[in-house]
Amino acid sequence: MEKELNEYDFIVSKTDTRGNITYANESFIKIIYAKESDILNKPHNIVRHPDMPKAVFKYLWQQLKARKEVYAFVKNKTFDNGYYWVFANISVSYDLNGNIIGYYSVRRKIGKRAKELIISLYKKMIEVEKSKGVDESWKIIEEILHKENKTYNEFIISIQDLK
Ligand SMILES: Cc1cc2nc3c(=O)[nH]c(=O)nc-3n(C[C@H](O)[C@H](O)[C@H](O)COP(=O)(O)O)c2cc1C
Repeated sequence: MEKELNEYDFIVSKTDTRGNITYANESFIKIIYAKESDILNKPHNIVRHPDMPKAVFKYLWQQLKARKEVYAFVKNKTFDNGYYWVFANISVSYDLNGNIIGYYSVRRKIGKRAKELIISLYKKMIEVEKSKGVDESWKIIEEILHKENKTYNEFIISIQDLK
């Protein structure tokens, strides 16, 4: 069963440097239908949905390690066997000396057009991942970025629409 976010919802979580959840806001806990104790200190892939291409997460972690923020469309699973789509911004958290102390993500409702586009894109990527691997799957994204002359974040933002 798909769960829809309201237009005013923000789903927030924070992780340590290894991706273990250190904080989840009420909207996050509510939509995944979990108790806070089910997810705190657990790896964030606890909500990973099999429809998500591996290449997207590989890119995410490369960018985060390079101290760059990433926008992404993400499908997550819930504890009551549902799923939901979000438009996410994932970013780096620093201490006062500039050391990375963790990461955080703020997400909101995915746009209608973005969802249609991303569902078919991720489907293609997953097929390629099964036959040719993660690097070939990422090339599908690179081709789009080349054609549109956009960075990854620019492309993701350009297809998000809430109308
Ligand atoms: C702040 C932050 C938030 C994340 N949020 C999600 C999320 O909502 N869903 C998800 O599947 N992965 C999320 N990830 C990525 C996971 O850490 C992980 O890379 C991903 O689920 C793939 O898991 P796997 O490498 O074990 O297959 C997040 C990572 C960070 C740093």
